Amino acid sequence: QSDLYMVYHGFCLPKLAYTVESLNYFESFQVQDDDIFVITYPKSGTTWMQEILPLLLNGGDLTPVLTLQGYERAPWLEDVRAAQVVAKLSAPRAFISHMPYHLMPFTFFRSKAKVIYIIRNPKDVVVSYFYFHQMASFLHDPGTFEEFTDSFLAGNVMFGKWTDHVKSWRNPDLGDRILYITYEEMIQDLRGVMERVLCFLNRQLSEDALNRVTEQCQFKTMKQNKMSNYSLASPKLMDNSKSPFLRKGIAGDWKNHFSPELEAKFNAVICEELKGTDMTFP
Ligand code: PPS
Repeated sequence: QSDLYMVYHGFCLPKLAYTVESLNYFESFQVQDDDIFVITYPKSGTTWMQEILPLLLNGGDLTPVLTLQGYERAPWLEDVRAAQVVAKLSAPRAFISHMPYHLMPFTFFRSKAKVIYIIRNPKDVVVSYFYFHQMASFLHDPGTFEEFTDSFLAGNVMFGKWTDHVKSWRNPDLGDRILYITYEEMIQDLRGVMERVLCFLNRQLSEDALNRVTEQCQFKTMKQNKMSNYSLASPKLMDNSKSPFLRKGIAGDWKNHFSPELEAKFNAVICEELKGTDMTFP
């Protein structure tokens, strides 16, 4: 798999999306105090918050979401397209990143930039990741679900182990700079989550605008929006006919994929790795 991946600080990254130059750009990025980072382990709700946050910041104007692709509204700061997009952003800037805490740009640590961290049930993460590997040519063939789950637990997937990621961002140094949100809360009460984000950012939105944003960020609306559903990605990179990027958008699909044995093994590994933290699982 070395043709597909490079190794970065102990985990693998697909060469088609990340290069030495893009990672250097990330590391030396000049973070500003009013920047806002959406941080996630992959498949945890990134694209969803990428849709929501710029709309909350622009007062609910739908123009960008209908005319620009997600990465042009809120770029992944570590990927190859970031540099060209960042120049076009106005403050407050919204960025997306899958990086663990300790690998953030040096200037992040001295800034007041805020972080919205989304966490999703890792059993649903591994299911979503499994289908993503089937449709994304820049990731290795996942094999069977059981085989892929083993790779996931071992951290042999892009950005490494799920537990390392969530533990890294549970850092008390972040204080009130970070807001933790779960994918499951977003499913249950999207509007409530948006209100929490607005409160965290000390911003307000009219009732009308909030209703508009809530509707625009529904799974069914995003799935039909070509600027958000990855249908504009090159089919050589992402083949939505194999599995759509916006696949099911539900909580609990793991129940359709895990055998009782696999579930027991998965729970045991995750539980062990979360020992000594304030996080519990399942
Ligand atoms: S990535 O590749 O890391 O950017 O993937 P990410 O966006 O984090 O995760 C993709 C999953 O998020 C689901 N999704 C949504 N669910 C509910 N509502 C909305 N609006 C929504 N938008 C994205 C997407 O369908 C993937 O989950 P699965 O379980 O595969 O459907």
